[in-house]
Amino acid sequence: MAQAEIRAARREDCAAMGAIYNHYVESDTCTFRTDPEPLDERVAWLERHGPAHPVFVAEADGRVVGWASLSPWNSRCGYRATVEDSVYLDPHWRGRGLGAALLQRLVEAAVACGHHRMIAAISADQARSVALHQRFGFVEVGRMTEVGHKFGRWLDVVYLQLRLPPVEQKAQPPTEVDIEIFDAGSARANLDALGALLIDAVEGGASVGFMAPLSSAQARSYWETVAERLARGTLVLLGARKNGQLVGAVQLVPSDKDNARHRAEIAKLLVHRRLRRQGIGRQLMAAIETEARTRGHTLLVLDTQTGSAAEALYRRLGYTAAGQIPAYACLPDGPSQPTTLMWRFLGASAEVTVEKPLVAGPTLQRREPR
Ligand SMILES: CC(C)(COP(=O)(O)OP(=O)(O)OC[C@H]1O[C@@H](n2cnc3c(N)ncnc32)[C@H](O)[C@@H]1OP(=O)(O)O)[C@@H](O)C(=O)NCCC(=O)NCCS
Repeated sequence: MAQAEIRAARREDCAAMGAIYNHYVESDTCTFRTDPEPLDERVAWLERHGPAHPVFVAEADGRVVGWASLSPWNSRCGYRATVEDSVYLDPHWRGRGLGAALLQRLVEAAVACGHHRMIAAISADQARSVALHQRFGFVEVGRMTEVGHKFGRWLDVVYLQLRLPPVEQKAQPPTEVDIEIFDAGSARANLDALGALLIDAVEGGASVGFMAPLSSAQARSYWETVAERLARGTLVLLGARKNGQLVGAVQLVPSDKDNARHRAEIAKLLVHRRLRRQGIGRQLMAAIETEARTRGHTLLVLDTQTGSAAEALYRRLGYTAAGQIPAYACLPDGPSQPTTLMWRFLGASAEVTVEKPLVAGPTLQRREPR
C-alpha cells in the first residue's frame, strides 16, 4: 500500500477534497456531475456528515491525496442503517492500493456505526471501481440502463450492496476467562457445551461451516470428529471458561504437508453471543498463538467471512489480508458470501527452514485452568 495516513476529514481539507473531486467532474464518468463544485458546497456537505456518516482523507507529505465518505443512501428515516460510499483519489495516487485502504476504513466505520447495508452506485464503465468493491464483498444487485448522460453518451449505473455484520454488544473492559486445552477425553466429556457454543454461533448468523438450523445431534457429531482428530494429534482445541461455563473456543490445525510443518491454520474461533466484545476472542487468540509457537509454527493462516466481526478482530491482531474469494461459503440463512484469506508470521521473518516434522503425533496434555 502507498504511504498515506488516513484520518477524519476536517473543514480545512475541503478545498483539497473539492479539487480532487472537480478533476473527475471535468474528466471522468465516475461522477455524473458536470459543473465544478464550489467550495462552500463541499463545506456544507462535510458539515452535514455527522458521526454516523464519517468522512476520511488520506494525507501524504502534508497533502490530501484522497478522500472517502459514507453518506445517507436515502433521507427517509427507515433507510437510516443504509449508507452509500464514495472514494476519490488524486489521479497520481491511483493504482497504489490507496482506494482499497480507504474503502477498508469505510467498511470498518460502517460496522462500528452499526449500519446494516453499504451501497455503491457506480457508472458501469468504471470497471476498476466495480472490481474493487467486489473484492470487498459487494454484490451487484441492480443495473439501470442509460440513466446518466455525460461527454455525449448514455451511461448505465450498477448498484452494488455489501451486507455488514451485525453490531454486537458495545466494547467493555475485558472479561477474564480461564483458558484450557482439550484432549479427546475432555472434548467428549464436553460435547453438549461445545455443541451449544456452535449452535449459538450459527443462530447468530456466523459463517462457520453450517447451515441453520443446526441441531444438537449435528453439533455433537461435529465435535465427535474434532475429538477423533484430537486423539490423532492433528488438531489443537482450546476452550475459554467463565465461572466454569464454556463461553468460547478456538482450534489450531497444523499443516500435514512435509514442506509446511511451520504452518498452521486457525479455525472456528467462537465466543458466545452474550459475552462478545469483552476481549474473550482476543484472549483465545493470544493463547492459541502461544500454543502454536510452542509447537514450532511460525506462520498462521485463516479464512473468514469478509467484513465480519472476526475479520475486524484478526486485522486488529495484526493479520494481513492476502485477498478475497467471492461466493466462498453460504451464511447459515442461505446467501453466499466472500471470504478473506489472512496470514500472520509469529516470528519476525518470512524465512522458514523445516528440518524435521514439528508436530509428531499427539502431544496434547491437559493443562489446569489458569
Ligand atoms: C469473532 C468473535 C470470535 C470475536 O470474539 P469477541 O470476544 O467478541 O472479540 P473481542 O472482544 O476479543 O474483540 C477484540 C477486537 O476485535 C474487534 N472486533 C470484535 N468484534 C467486533 C465487531 N462486532 N465489530 C467490529 N470490531 C470487532 C475489535 O477491534 C475488538 O477490540 P475492541 O473491543 O477493543 O474494539 C465473535 O464475534 C464470534 O464468535 N463470532 C461468530 C463466529 C465467527 O465468525 N468466528 C470466526 C470464524 S473465522
